[in-house]
Amino acid sequence: MNKIVFLTGAGMSAESGISTFRDADGLWEGHDVMSVASPEGWEANPALVLDFYNQRRAQLKTVQPNKGHELIAALEQDYQVQIITQNVDNLHEKAGSKNIIHLHGELLKARSIDNPHQIYHWENDINLGDTDQNGIQLRPHIVWFGEAVPEIPYAIEVNKTADLVVVVGTSLQVYPAASLMHYAPFRCPVVYIDPKPAEIYDLIQPLHIIAKGASEGMQELIKWIKAGKFNA
Ligand code: OAD
Repeated sequence: MNKIVFLTGAGMSAESGISTFRDADGLWEGHDVMSVASPEGWEANPALVLDFYNQRRAQLKTVQPNKGHELIAALEQDYQVQIITQNVDNLHEKAGSKNIIHLHGELLKARSIDNPHQIYHWENDINLGDTDQNGIQLRPHIVWFGEAVPEIPYAIEVNKTADLVVVVGTSLQVYPAASLMHYAPFRCPVVYIDPKPAEIYDLIQPLHIIAKGASEGMQELIKWIKAGKFNA
């Protein structure tokens, strides 16, 4: 076994103190997800959306990677590791992982509302009136519901080259992210770590479920790897 692909979701960062999306009555930090994570929400109330992500960006400065992030980063010593995350936080980076695709964007980036390719590194608040060099308003560099996911073609190709796919902390409700494991090679094992794993019906690859949180689940996975469970 050489290449491990991790597909991570909000549960990956739960033990660091960042709320998941669907664990709290469909509310995200007290908001209906669509009001803060959709183009319609932005049209209706850009100040609310900016404020919401400003709070999330500020929170990032107060949280640290958990044991799960650290164990994934440590696997880079022995394996080629690629992370494909739905998370917009920077906790995989902070833990030391190198190869990270952020499918749904990044909190620490801002972009022009007119040009998705005009992207800036951004650590503090984005306010109404903050513009790109052409005077166009900036917004969070987040993929909202109904928007295209530009990194998907690359993420699919990465999954096709995996020797082991590990899915961590996602309810598998949001597509296309939820479909990525299906692109793994036919015999590639897929491990799903989540304390409340979603049903997976139609996977042809061998599936192993670890119904535990990210830190404990990663420790279990590492035991399996060391025991040679996935050696061809
Ligand atoms: P969800 O909130 O839908 O799912 C979180 C998952 O994490 C659930 O399956 C929980 O059981 C699991 N979980 C909870 N605590 C955990 C722990 N300690 N360790 C491991 N897992 C744990 O989050 P996502 O599936 O990531 O998109 O949501 C996908 C997308 O929907 C997000 O990227 C976001 C959201 O709308 C955008 O913002 C575009």
